Amino acid sequence: MIQFTVLTLFPEMFAPLQESILKRAQEAGLVKIKFVNFRDYATSKHKNVDDVPYGGGAGMLLKPEPIFAAVRDLPEPGARRRVILLSPQGAVFNQKKAEALSEQEELVFICGHYEGFDERIRELADEELSIGDYVLTGGELAAMVMIDAVARLIPGVLGEDTSAQEDSHSISLLEYPQYTRPADFEGRQVPEVLLSGHHAMIKRWQRKESLRRTFLRRPDLIKAVIFAAEDYLILEELVLEHEEIAAWQALWQHLCPPPKRRRK
Ligand code: ADE
Repeated sequence: MIQFTVLTLFPEMFAPLQESILKRAQEAGLVKIKFVNFRDYATSKHKNVDDVPYGGGAGMLLKPEPIFAAVRDLPEPGARRRVILLSPQGAVFNQKKAEALSEQEELVFICGHYEGFDERIRELADEELSIGDYVLTGGELAAMVMIDAVARLIPGVLGEDTSAQEDSHSISLLEYPQYTRPADFEGRQVPEVLLSGHHAMIKRWQRKESLRRTFLRRPDLIKAVIFAAEDYLILEELVLEHEEIAAWQALWQHLCPPPKRRRK
């Protein structure tokens, strides 16, 4: 069970979390999502939550008082609660971070909106996270991304226990191509080996295609790959199959450097 508490001015934006897998997870009591509209904590007559920046500049900033009041009014935290501020200035969220956050009992997300927030609001957060190097109109979409990525790691949320473990970013290689019936779709054939029933050959093909995909699409991921002894033959084949790509040669030399000469 994990609880997500979202501080936002726009709780209706979170409708996508009421569909499909997350809907079922909530019905099964594996995931709880609570919303706090911090406008309810604004004390002025017009319930203002933003104001002009000192020193001038464009746009409005979220005021500290309503957000501080909303956080202070949260129920006593359990032992494992983390408060996360969504902002493009935060560390970039990834699968490893999702895994770490899935160990918590409660995650509180503070979603900014408008141009930014008063600097003192940062004090409320244990950490500041971004979903990527682009600027959104608010933290809501970022919070939804994180809730989705963390919730699916909670045991029972996905059908099989293993499914979350096997996906691409947990193992740092991209997934190999997969096929279902028909074996021939308008002349496009499923690779022969997959129809062979030869388990070891299928495994090897899948490993090779995972490595190929990762090298071609996300070479930046390769440095985190733990290569198995069997991979070296596969890599040699791939280098030959992609001779046109000079970078492969460099990579190959990096992975299999010529043995160093001993000094004297
Ligand atoms: N708020 C605005 N842009 C954001 C981003 N990229 N990540 C998280 N929160 C944001």
